[in-house]
Amino acid sequence: MHHHGIDAESLLDRATMPVDEWRLIESRPEGIPLGVSETLFALSNGYLGMRGNPPEGRDSAEHGTFVNGLHETWPIRHAEDAYGLAREGQTIVNAPDAKPMRLYVDDEPLRLASAEVVDYERCLDFREGVLRRRFIWRTPGGKRIRVTSDRMVSLQEKHLAVLSLEVELLDSPAAVTISSQLLNRQDGEDEYCDPATAQGKELDPRRAETLEERVLLPIFQTESEPGRATLAFRCAGSGMTVGCAMANELTVTVPEGEPAPHVGTEQLTEEDTASMVYQVNAPAGTVLRLEKLVAYHSSRHVGGEELAFRCSRTLNRARRVGLRALQDNQREWLERFWERSDVVIHDQPELQQAVRWNIFQLLQASARAEVQGIPAKGMTGTGYGGHYFWDTEIYVLPFLAYTSPAFARSALRFRRNMLEAARARADELAHDGALFPWRTINGQESSAYYAAGTAQYHIDADIVYALMKYVHASGDVDFLLDEGLDLLIDTARFWLSLGFFTRDRSGFQIHSVTGPDEYNTVVNNNLYTNVMAQFNLRAAADVVEQMRAERPQEFEAMVRRHALEEEEVREWREAADRMYIPFDENLGIHPQDDQFLLRKRWKLDDPETGPKRPLLLHYHPLTIYRHQIIKQADVVLALFLQGHRFTEEQKRADYDYYDPLTTGDSTLSAVVQSIIAAELGYGRQAMDFFIRGLYVDLADLHGNTADGVHVASAGGVWQSLVYGFGGFRDHGGRFTIDPRLPEDWSGLTYRLTIHGCRIRVTVRRRTVEVALEEGDHAIGPVTVAGREVVVDREPLTIVIGADSGPGEGADMANT
Ligand code: BGC
Repeated sequence: MHHHGIDAESLLDRATMPVDEWRLIESRPEGIPLGVSETLFALSNGYLGMRGNPPEGRDSAEHGTFVNGLHETWPIRHAEDAYGLAREGQTIVNAPDAKPMRLYVDDEPLRLASAEVVDYERCLDFREGVLRRRFIWRTPGGKRIRVTSDRMVSLQEKHLAVLSLEVELLDSPAAVTISSQLLNRQDGEDEYCDPATAQGKELDPRRAETLEERVLLPIFQTESEPGRATLAFRCAGSGMTVGCAMANELTVTVPEGEPAPHVGTEQLTEEDTASMVYQVNAPAGTVLRLEKLVAYHSSRHVGGEELAFRCSRTLNRARRVGLRALQDNQREWLERFWERSDVVIHDQPELQQAVRWNIFQLLQASARAEVQGIPAKGMTGTGYGGHYFWDTEIYVLPFLAYTSPAFARSALRFRRNMLEAARARADELAHDGALFPWRTINGQESSAYYAAGTAQYHIDADIVYALMKYVHASGDVDFLLDEGLDLLIDTARFWLSLGFFTRDRSGFQIHSVTGPDEYNTVVNNNLYTNVMAQFNLRAAADVVEQMRAERPQEFEAMVRRHALEEEEVREWREAADRMYIPFDENLGIHPQDDQFLLRKRWKLDDPETGPKRPLLLHYHPLTIYRHQIIKQADVVLALFLQGHRFTEEQKRADYDYYDPLTTGDSTLSAVVQSIIAAELGYGRQAMDFFIRGLYVDLADLHGNTADGVHVASAGGVWQSLVYGFGGFRDHGGRFTIDPRLPEDWSGLTYRLTIHGCRIRVTVRRRTVEVALEEGDHAIGPVTVAGREVVVDREPLTIVIGADSGPGEGADMANT
């Protein structure tokens, strides 16, 4: 869809969203549409997420607070049932809202939508991990009040959030009331959402289901001490429990010579709400500061009292540390994160800001997700019901593997922990091994529409792809053999049983599957699936052999545990070797599947006959399926993930063929197209697709940022920089760097953590510089612009050959 160029400069209104390399800023109250700003300014640590709702707790598109894994279940009622369809829906729950700290001056409520406000700024600081807002409010009575608030979801203490509200009476005495609350929004407590800005009820399958019944049943409430309250609930369907506690502390500072005013307090704790109200008649110049510590704990089993106990542990510890120190810790934590993860586009502050916002989203989605998954929207919204998809493995995990390997390992362990459920699911569908759910929270398949769900069997190979990527990047062979091997064996068994050898045994085919492209479903021999299954089968056979050689004793135990037969492993290899790879000699391209090229074409860009977009909101699936039209990169994704098995000529032919057919209706597409376009030397298109991915949320390019951040696209942005323009490749653990720097960029710097050490790569117009930035051993060999080098402390500059292609004629110098 490169046909319409996109102009990065005009995407954002810079008067509202000024450029700052380390912060996202909104400089006018409600300068960004409410739902979008709630997503853009959301805070999360991967365990706890809070949308960017203002502390007044009023106007909003969606008040969102999420605890990773906390979900409700409900029976899926198929109008026409069939064997093996998903039985139970899973939906992320809106955890009790602890954001509200309402302000009243002379009993007038502050409400941004109608207030008279000057000097407004709200910003999300990527180095501090704090959301700040400040402005001066002129009350209806004409008094000027400075209002400043901070919010931080702790990266170090995953159960903790820290909020503050400061109110300064600039010129007059006033009666100030602050009401700090916990609210069960899920079941409609308070203004749930503003009808004017709320999402409409129109069809959009990408949104979460609305749960009509009561979800959170109150099970426990307590006020353990002044300013503290805890509410606990149980989800009616899933039985999961959640506890939320707040501890409030108000300090009042009066100008010199003024007597300290009386602080009136009122505390009320009910089943669905808790509030702590402070009332002060304060002289001019007074500063009131409310600090609010908030803790969340959730569980599958334990009751309310235990959750309240855990919350109070978290709050006590946080109080001992103190707000300042908590913020300092956050800054240090982030300093280390950016050292590992920052990507710098030289001299391009606009792009830089957007790049860092995207990388910050990856951090927010994954840092403390631990053995929970990474939802498609992170913890920033309810889009896709809070489900985990292949987005994690293919789009996010490469970033984690090369910047925060420990997070990558956690994400893989999360799948490993689901293996039992995946085995049961394979069994239910009459397959061997394990079949992972296409979308899930609790390990069960939750995709009601099997054609675009369960049929995406490629998820198994995607997980193995991520596993091998992590192992090659980190060198963590222990993890591979201790935990990874189970994944390899069960997925290989699955593929062998899903596909079949043709009658003369000349080929291995896989039928009735859906590839990544959801606009062509239940097809035979989807190229992506076959290529990835081949990779999966080979990886399994290789690792089994590796274990036999390297750990003979453990190998015996493993063979017994899995009842693994030699014959079986031989068959995996044979299936891989004979895997049918569709190729059309006439067109010189890889058909996406057996039927694809036979279908009718639908000219995407024809204003008369072209389809309305996105297709999924305008056409019956059958209308879409009967055309040669695709939602997202499919063959082109295979060209990237398994790039070493395709020739440049094939890549070019495939890319050229599929590009005009690709709607990009999924945000998982542009970033991949950008990488292959860059590889092929299609600089303009590569940039175009990159910009579409980079600004997909910041400029709300798909119109649904209000539902949450497109986390896969954010991961794709990192990959477009590192693999696309940065030219990094790591097939089979062999590292190469062949940069494709965009014409108008002066340089690009990225970091990769490889085998526990960190290297820095700086691409300039004619050179690539590599250096070991952190770690105790050199990294190599790495092939840089065709030269095999070992990367050590002393920076190496490799000259990119002037008129020879990449990989040839490179020259090298020590700098
Ligand atoms: C895409 C899938 C993706 C899902 C969640 C869909 O629109 O087609 O590939 O996994 O969104 O992001």
